[in-house]
Amino acid sequence: MKIKNLIDYYSQELGGYSSYALTEVEEIFLSALGLEQRSALYLNDFQDIPFEVLDSAIEKRKQGYPLQYLTGRVNFFGFDFITKEGVFIPRPETELLVEYVVSNFKAVRGLKIVEVGTGSGIISICLTKLLADCKIIATDISIQAIGLASANALLNGCRDEILFIKGDKTEFLHREGYFDLLVSNPPYIALSEKHRLPKDVKKEPHQALFGGSCGYEFSLDLIRSGSKLIKPGGSIIIEIDQKHKSVYEKSFSGIARIDFIKDIHGLDRVMALKF
Ligand SMILES: C[S@@+](CC[C@H](N)C(=O)[O-])C[C@H]1O[C@@H](n2cnc3c(N)ncnc32)[C@H](O)[C@@H]1O
Repeated sequence: MKIKNLIDYYSQELGGYSSYALTEVEEIFLSALGLEQRSALYLNDFQDIPFEVLDSAIEKRKQGYPLQYLTGRVNFFGFDFITKEGVFIPRPETELLVEYVVSNFKAVRGLKIVEVGTGSGIISICLTKLLADCKIIATDISIQAIGLASANALLNGCRDEILFIKGDKTEFLHREGYFDLLVSNPPYIALSEKHRLPKDVKKEPHQALFGGSCGYEFSLDLIRSGSKLIKPGGSIIIEIDQKHKSVYEKSFSGIARIDFIKDIHGLDRVMALKF
């Protein structure tokens, strides 16, 4: 059986709820049928169609359940990762942080790096794959995140190269010595913005989203405690909301050189502090 008509039917069903209904339905079909390429959906005949799985996924999507939790996968920086309810969904914006670190440090061998708030492990895993001989410790306060990040490292063939530790910010890290780099995509949404968030974002873990009542408190604290773990000449590189830029400038221009890196929309998205 060809499934183009079925895809059209589900796309119409989802049309009132999502502007990307066709793409989302295709993603759901690919995941339910265990396929990789969109073209495979249209070129093949299918005997067993998992209608129950498809119906339930489309229904959940209509109710605002995130697509990546339904499909269980995402591509980030050219690598495949598993996604799971209870752990933050990787965003394309974060590729800028990885790109910045790789382009600035690819010539350096053996960097000692710590990532705080690893989530599904995307940043540490990409850096392990793209930097020469780096040693990474990746931490998260969520045990679910640590479990998923380990599974993703295994999937990408670098499980033995990253040490995953459950922990609160930089707590326990002082016993690991000094680092060349601290990287993080910390929670940075203001609690006051909670009511404005889209339905699907609200399904992600609270602690992965909110950085405090103004949003920047988590990052201020992370940079203050993290700076004590950085070698002279080392850097802290974190994703930011550009609304918080002046707070960071005021707080840290006396102790580090600060650079801001813009994303494709012209927004300051990454902050690099060199000590
Ligand atoms: C915005 S998510 C980023 C996840 C991942 N690095 C990424 O870019 O997709 C922030 C992460 O910080 C973690 N987190 C929140 N509070 C933390 C804390 N006090 N210590 C360590 N990690 C924390 C959350 O569990 C979440 O995984």
